[in-house]
Amino acid sequence: MADIFDKCKGDGGYFGAFRHMGENELTRPIMEPLAGKRMMHNGEEHIMWSVNNYIGLANNDEIRKAAADAVEEFSTCNPMGSRMMSGNTPYHLALEKRLAEFSQKEAAFLFNFGYMAVLGIVSSLAGMGDTVVVDKLAHASILDAAGMAKAAGATLRYFKHNDAKDLDKVLESVNKTNPDGGVLVLTEGVYGMTGDLADLRGICEVKDKWGARLFIDDAHGLGVMGEKGRGAADYFGVQDKIDIYFGTFAKAFASIGGFCACDKDVRDWIMFNARTQVFAKSLPMVYVQSLDKTLDLVMEREDLRDKMWENSKKLQDGLRNEGFAIGPGDSPICSVFCPVGTEAADKVGGVGASMVAYLRERKIFVTAVVYPVIPPGLCMFRMIPTAAHTDAEVNETIEAFKSMSKDLNLTLPCTADDQAKIDKLFRCNPTKA
Ligand SMILES: Cc1ncc(COP(=O)(O)O)c(C=O)c1O
Repeated sequence: MADIFDKCKGDGGYFGAFRHMGENELTRPIMEPLAGKRMMHNGEEHIMWSVNNYIGLANNDEIRKAAADAVEEFSTCNPMGSRMMSGNTPYHLALEKRLAEFSQKEAAFLFNFGYMAVLGIVSSLAGMGDTVVVDKLAHASILDAAGMAKAAGATLRYFKHNDAKDLDKVLESVNKTNPDGGVLVLTEGVYGMTGDLADLRGICEVKDKWGARLFIDDAHGLGVMGEKGRGAADYFGVQDKIDIYFGTFAKAFASIGGFCACDKDVRDWIMFNARTQVFAKSLPMVYVQSLDKTLDLVMEREDLRDKMWENSKKLQDGLRNEGFAIGPGDSPICSVFCPVGTEAADKVGGVGASMVAYLRERKIFVTAVVYPVIPPGLCMFRMIPTAAHTDAEVNETIEAFKSMSKDLNLTLPCTADDQAKIDKLFRCNPTKA
């Protein structure tokens, strides 16, 4: 018999080469926990571009106070049971009611983690005889949820990234081969890794044409896009067409947990069948109480969203002017592509790694993203401008990129080959709202 642990000794598996490098390198850098526009790494303060603190609510005083009051009253452990048993409180129900109203849906349901929410929602709905149709570049939680549905007997199909025309073809073929099965389309509102916006108008039109249902994971749109931060579907004016809206509190809400919002009968089904929450302890009061405050701020503080957009535009324009290839820039996420030329960009030791090291030496903190998170052959910095960053921090960062292009002899603008790969990644650029 082989030893099942043998694989752990090499550098195989997911992120194998990075795992082999150990802690505090390109992956798993060791950080002090206080998140914000500046963070401590290796004992030194860095300008931070890798935290999803979109509207700068991390460490907000009002939220801190709400959390401290909740801990004073309810400690950190309560409630102690699952929602089904002893963990269902009036506070959880009240927050769900507010989230439903905020999302303009009949009902909402809380989850302890966004990842678990996606798994729970999808696996509760899609099983034997059904089909899940997934955007090829969707977040890992969606791909894993689709995998669970497949294990339960559902058929798994993919459509090309953000391509409503391709979705149409896939749904046509599903309708032909399995006319009696239900279909759930899974996609993101703002693609968290690449920062492009989903073509939600096109996707909604197509799913309605075939009678499929649509789940959107709006982890990066919630609090960021749309009126009062209602998200990407609100931004495109199609919130009423989204069958299940999902958002995590881990990004703009600067907390933990997530929720889905949908019709009441669907919410009730999820509430009783999403095993990742049914069999888990209820969201602790410290989060429920502080999230109530956070929701107020998300809805009220349009000024923070304005500042986030201003910073994002400044950073994106500045880097573009220096010749860097960046993503479409429709969301605040600024995806900067490494000019890789013929070099293997996605390998440890590639130009992306040199760029990360160069910037970290200058106390600018960026994170490189490579395959399997994005398609092979590309290396990208996923930069998150937030409402908290100052003009000076944006300018200092652009200056550091400028000197980097000279000191590292970067090929700028990138080669036609790189540009073709990038264009292919963003094959569909939806009409702006
Ligand atoms: C698109 C997307 N979906 C889901 C999740 C999971 O959310 P959480 O961190 O709340 O588990 C994330 C977080 O990385 C995400 O980016």
